[in-house]
Amino acid sequence: MEINPFSSKYPVSPRYFANRKDLLEHFRKSVMKNTKTKLPKPDNIAVLGDWGIGKTSMVVKFEDMILNEFKGMVKVLSVRISLKPASCTDIDVFSEALVREIKCAFQINDASVFKKIKNIIDKWEVNTVEILPVIKIKKKKEKQIRIDLTKTLENLWNNLKKRIDLVVIMLDDLHYLLQRYADGLFDLRNTFQELVTKGCNYMVITTGPQILYQEVGDIAEPWTRFFDPFFLNPFDLEGTKEAILKPIKIEGAPVKIKNEVIEKIHSITLGHPYFIAFIMQNLLERVEKRIIDLKLFDKLYPEILERMDTAKFRTDFDRVSDKEKEVLIKISKIKKELVKPSDIGRKYHPETFSRLVSKGLLTKESRGRYRLYHPLFKKFLLSLD
Ligand SMILES: Nc1ncnc2c1ncn2[C@@H]1O[C@H](COP(=O)(O)OP(=O)(O)OP(=O)(O)O)[C@@H](O)[C@H]1O
Ligand SMILES: [Mg+2]
Repeated sequence: MEINPFSSKYPVSPRYFANRKDLLEHFRKSVMKNTKTKLPKPDNIAVLGDWGIGKTSMVVKFEDMILNEFKGMVKVLSVRISLKPASCTDIDVFSEALVREIKCAFQINDASVFKKIKNIIDKWEVNTVEILPVIKIKKKKEKQIRIDLTKTLENLWNNLKKRIDLVVIMLDDLHYLLQRYADGLFDLRNTFQELVTKGCNYMVITTGPQILYQEVGDIAEPWTRFFDPFFLNPFDLEGTKEAILKPIKIEGAPVKIKNEVIEKIHSITLGHPYFIAFIMQNLLERVEKRIIDLKLFDKLYPEILERMDTAKFRTDFDRVSDKEKEVLIKISKIKKELVKPSDIGRKYHPETFSRLVSKGLLTKESRGRYRLYHPLFKKFLLSLD
């Protein structure tokens, strides 16, 4: 089929965005509330969820709402930054990357709307502080200069505040900072907390996997308190239906997906957005017919599943160690829904389970109880034997 609006490789286009009504409403209300106040107290949001559940799609949608839905109602600027491991090694590298990304983000915004703002950003000066070395270093050039992030952002706000009511900073994949420089969380929190006490209206939105937030919760309670957490779950049947039908309707694709097919896709994917997008993309690539019924779907599905094995599961499997592979296969053979390390024998230490959780292949359900991240992955592992 020529018209194919589905793609599992990229965040969903905001026009096709399905479900998540509560979070969208929370965001809308927070923005409205925080743009109509002289005393800012922005609600910071942590969008949490496992691999492929729609975190990036969510922040892309927020960005789109700011640019389109809120336009003319409130004056909000947004910057969306995808964190990368290399820019999260310490606070200096991070601050530098953040400032650079903010500059870039505003440069690509529509110049006619943001012309004045673009000028402000172009002239925005970075404040620095000099770090005195613990042991005096003779050579002058070894003096350390670092970006004073709080001052720099305060400086930006003071230049923007006549034209802008709120700046939303979105940090996608915050776990890179957690993994590489956990103290950065405190630096970030302190920075944005201080900015708010100085009257600068910055709202922070972060995304990351659930498990990291739970783990950090124990050691960094002040950090987690700084955000309202929202956990993204798979879609219910209605959500799956919307994710399938909305793009088809918007694009006027000449195809009718029968309800029975939607139900089948829901039961196979359990409402996981990545798998829904994957199946739909591949389904539409393979059909010419206008009506897709269960018979046609069942005929095409084995081929789609094969594609999924190579595109996703094989890659997942190949990037773990031999021992982890062995554990995954053993887990797949257990009939119980939830598995504990002792179920697969003594020599499989809980650490291997933890590593597989951090790699996103196992989900920790409760203390010491795990499951493979998706039944389709389980099926793939069973097929290897
Ligand atoms: N709200 C949604 N409506 C429709 N499709 C969605 C939605 N959210 C996610 N998807 C689909 O799921 C796929 C994965 O989404 P996304 O990349 O946003 O997830 P993620 O949580 O950021 O993943 P990762 O953990 O890899 O960063 C997308 O390609 C998209 O097709
Ligand atoms: Mg993402």
